[in-house]
Amino acid sequence: MKRIATAVVALGASAMLALSGCASSDRGPASTSAAPSTSTSASASTPANANQITLGTGFAAGSKIGVSLPQKTSENWVLAEGLFTEQLKAAGFDPIVQFANGGAPEQQNQISAMIEQGVKLLIVGAVDGSQLTSQLAAAKAAGIPVIAYDRLLTNTDAVDMYMAYDNFKVGVLQGTALLEGLGKSAKKSPWNIELISGSPDDANSKPFFEGAMSILQPKIDDGTLKVVSGQVTQQQTATAGWKAENAQKRMDAILSANYQGDVSLDGVLSPNDTLARAALTAVKSAGKPNPVITGQDSEVESVKLVQQGVQYSTIDKDTKKFVTKVVEYVTDIAAGKPVEVNDTKSYNNGVKVVPAYLLTPVIVTKDNVCTEYAPDTAAGKAAAEVCK
Ligand code: GAL
Repeated sequence: MKRIATAVVALGASAMLALSGCASSDRGPASTSAAPSTSTSASASTPANANQITLGTGFAAGSKIGVSLPQKTSENWVLAEGLFTEQLKAAGFDPIVQFANGGAPEQQNQISAMIEQGVKLLIVGAVDGSQLTSQLAAAKAAGIPVIAYDRLLTNTDAVDMYMAYDNFKVGVLQGTALLEGLGKSAKKSPWNIELISGSPDDANSKPFFEGAMSILQPKIDDGTLKVVSGQVTQQQTATAGWKAENAQKRMDAILSANYQGDVSLDGVLSPNDTLARAALTAVKSAGKPNPVITGQDSEVESVKLVQQGVQYSTIDKDTKKFVTKVVEYVTDIAAGKPVEVNDTKSYNNGVKVVPAYLLTPVIVTKDNVCTEYAPDTAAGKAAAEVCK
């Protein structure tokens, strides 16, 4: 499955870098048993068809709804737990919301138990979307519709739709912001950078990384950017479990091996805020000045660092807006109504192309950190604190 993304970005006045990065990316898992689908590609200029699908045959008010969440690797997941509980109850359902802190095996058991308890719909934010095949098959056999939340469920036909912020676009925004920030910095090109990618068991790590590299690779190829450590693949740059200590240890090793003396580290591609702050800690302990560094999730601490100019960018993927949309869909599915999908081509999960409803992520830098967030969100409250 190929999707061609063309990003033409005119950057800040002081650094007009006209970029055209063409990249192909299979939105599906890194490796699948089934041959990737060969369906036609959807280019960025012609969005995949707008469409409607119906999930199941409806269920009664007061029905149990299973919400299986991964681990609390970033604030957005913690927020999701409370929002799903509150909003599903307010919509008249009986939510079972659980984190699989112990990882994929625990999530397998939790989903099986939810099916036993008679849930009428499953919402799954997977620790590892490729490890739930038999549990999802049991859900399908029981006539339970399954929505993949934020992270694609792979290697299974028992997933009815995927709802997420467009995570390839997240990567494109991160790569673009990194170049923009470097162009505005005191240092002139060529720039030394390092790359960090997410946990390899998270299906999102691939679109994050590929989206960013669709922007950065052409600049590595032409010498504008140099990855000094030489670690340039998703595998080489991965951060197991999204753990901050793993990113920090890796950056410590890279800095001591490659950045001795006055070799500058000018930029870091970080896939989310937690890992950005871990990288900044490593850079500080190496006695180096702050690089231009990206992030994601608008975590409270990072919103403040963006406003202070310490972290260059984060991404607004408003969790409240996302959960509200999902709960709206649950209500429509319960009533037997069809729901909208706005991408029916890009998400090949190794067995089928999963219809998707994608929300739009927003880049946040010092320029818009004080105006971007809804005031009633954690990010909005953090921004209000520092933007006085
Ligand atoms: C991803 C999610 C990101 C970030 C990351 C680490 O799946 O899309 O927003 O939260 O997990 O937890």
